[in-house]
Amino acid sequence: MEINDKVKAFAKEIEYINDSKLRSDAEYLVGILPDYFFEVDASSTGKYHPKYAAGEMGLARHVKAAVKMAVELLSNPSIGKNYSERDKDLIVIALLIHDGLKYGKVKTDKYTKFDHPLLISEYVKENKENLKMTDDDMEKICAMVESHMGPWNVSNYSDVVLPVPRAPMEKFVHMCDYLASRRFINLEFDDNNDVIDESKIK
Ligand SMILES: [Fe+2]
Repeated sequence: MEINDKVKAFAKEIEYINDSKLRSDAEYLVGILPDYFFEVDASSTGKYHPKYAAGEMGLARHVKAAVKMAVELLSNPSIGKNYSERDKDLIVIALLIHDGLKYGKVKTDKYTKFDHPLLISEYVKENKENLKMTDDDMEKICAMVESHMGPWNVSNYSDVVLPVPRAPMEKFVHMCDYLASRRFINLEFDDNNDVIDESKIK
């Protein structure tokens, strides 16, 4: 899959990022995600996600839903005022990539990798020289993706203990991912796989 097509698939979400350098970093990071990310179902078991996250591009729709949750909440001044404009951009980037290596860099089996929050964080750091963001931005993004699983930070199948969210923006990212994986919150998507929101519901 071409890098351009990967970026195009998330054009709407990338547009939410206000800072132009951070927007180009987001394009870079989405562009280096593995091809399978743009194809697979959100859940290997089908148990923990709503209907829209099933089937082809299900994982991508889950991510779009998580970004949409964030953007809607942050555009409400009562909620958004708690975050700087830059931190809002960083939250969108963290959500865009949080599940980007859900099956690792190369998908070899049908089970998701428990340590995927750490894998994507490492991947961001490995690509540091190609990014324009500051060290502080990167630390924040890495902390958000590493802790996005919230209380589900240990597994019977792994020795890894994931960090839990501590800073408000880490908790916010976990909350958006959580909302985007509740089965009772079943969003609708258009033909471009974009969330249908109030502006389109008359
Ligand atoms: Fe997620």
